[in-house]
Amino acid sequence: MSLPLPIETERLTLRRYTETDYDDLLKLQSNDDVTRFLLYESKTPEQVRDSLALRLADVPMDADGQAVTFAVVLRETGQHVGEVTMFVQSVEHKGGEIGFVFHPDFHGRGYATEAAAALLRLGFEHFGMHRMIGRLDGRNAGSAGVMKRLGMRQEAHFVSNEFLKGEWTDELVFAMLAEEWKAGTLAAE
Ligand SMILES: CC(C)(COP(=O)(O)OP(=O)(O)OC[C@H]1O[C@@H](n2cnc3c(N)ncnc32)[C@H](O)[C@@H]1OP(=O)(O)O)[C@@H](O)C(=O)NCCC(=O)NCCS
Repeated sequence: MSLPLPIETERLTLRRYTETDYDDLLKLQSNDDVTRFLLYESKTPEQVRDSLALRLADVPMDADGQAVTFAVVLRETGQHVGEVTMFVQSVEHKGGEIGFVFHPDFHGRGYATEAAAALLRLGFEHFGMHRMIGRLDGRNAGSAGVMKRLGMRQEAHFVSNEFLKGEWTDELVFAMLAEEWKAGTLAAE
């Protein structure tokens, strides 16, 4: 299914990555404050090259486990502020998952929530998803804040279920159904 890109929001543009985004992706993925609660460690320049290659590849988004990541840039200046990812969790069950990673220089301005809302819209309205989730480390208050501002419900708190970066960690799962998305967007109109 072709993607309706770029996606414009009030202040942001979500677009495919290009080769010229390497330096910005390096800044993001090599920053320990950014990767603290992510599944991966801070990346080396070579690992960021591989990561960018994955982002440049076309993904049909028609099989479980596939994902597409968009660069998020400020519409006015084109500055790269972060990225958002949509995963196909289950084709059969029309399940999707969202993720978001923003550079600390651009936290606290509502950009992550604005970009993630566009991703939920893409999932429900373009891909016809039935349910979209977000998963996060239980200590990641910033991420939980984004999920709550999006209107997602906390469905699960798994206690000490993942061994990440040398320690046992809790995992939270937030979710939203298509009907909840529709009710929320209608209420906002
Ligand atoms: C998770 C993450 C994206 C959250 O970033 P964030 O800046 O807190 O989230 P938002 O961009 O939605 O900004 C919300 C904040 O901006 C404030 N804000 C300022 N102007 C705003 C505006 N115009 N609109 C909305 N919110 C605004 C909000 O009040 C809120 O502040 P608060 O946290 O003090 O309540 C960020 O911490 C991050 O990228 N971390 C590293 C990667 C990561 O852990 N990703 C999640 C993996 S599950």
